[in-house]
Amino acid sequence: MIDLTALIMKSLWYILPSYVANMSPVIFGGGKPLDMGKNFLDGKRLLGDHKTVKGFVSGILMGTLMGCLQGRSVAGFLLSLGAMLGDSFGSFIKRRMGIEAGGSAPLLDQEGFLIASILLAYPVEPLDLGSILFLIAVTPALHKGTNVIAHRLGLKGVDH
Ligand code: CTP
Ligand code: MG
Repeated sequence: MIDLTALIMKSLWYILPSYVANMSPVIFGGGKPLDMGKNFLDGKRLLGDHKTVKGFVSGILMGTLMGCLQGRSVAGFLLSLGAMLGDSFGSFIKRRMGIEAGGSAPLLDQEGFLIASILLAYPVEPLDLGSILFLIAVTPALHKGTNVIAHRLGLKGVDH
């Protein structure tokens, strides 16, 4: 019989730096866009105005800080870098699909950063399939919850 409590605690402890990295840009982001205002071959923005240098860097710093507090700085850094790369890649795909910055793309918005985080950290801290599936299952709800809170606090314009 699977110990559900252990699975939940283990999975959330594992992914915490990634969640922190993903939330940080909402607080510390803004300013110069990562893509420097440049367009892709299709004439649409590479990433858009919502992916900023400050957001990207703060995500890596705050997520890595959380990893250091957990005593797993390398995994923390890789989870954070993965979160920011996955998040930016999600925006790249959204722009190609013609979705404007801030528009919603179900799954891509909630799972992109998570999967990239797990992939990047895998070589130093492999995660078992049960935990990966658990995180894929709960992250959309947690993501929605934190976004609604950020929206209510006036940190985020939209609640998705
Ligand atoms: N943010 C930022 N820099 C980043 C990522 C996010 O400044 N690298 C900030 C932006 O203010 C953004 C907010 O965090 O609006 C929420 O991020 P997210 O939901 O990922 O971006 P969206 O606004 O949905 O933009 P996109 O459509 O490009 O995903
Ligand atoms: Mg969004």
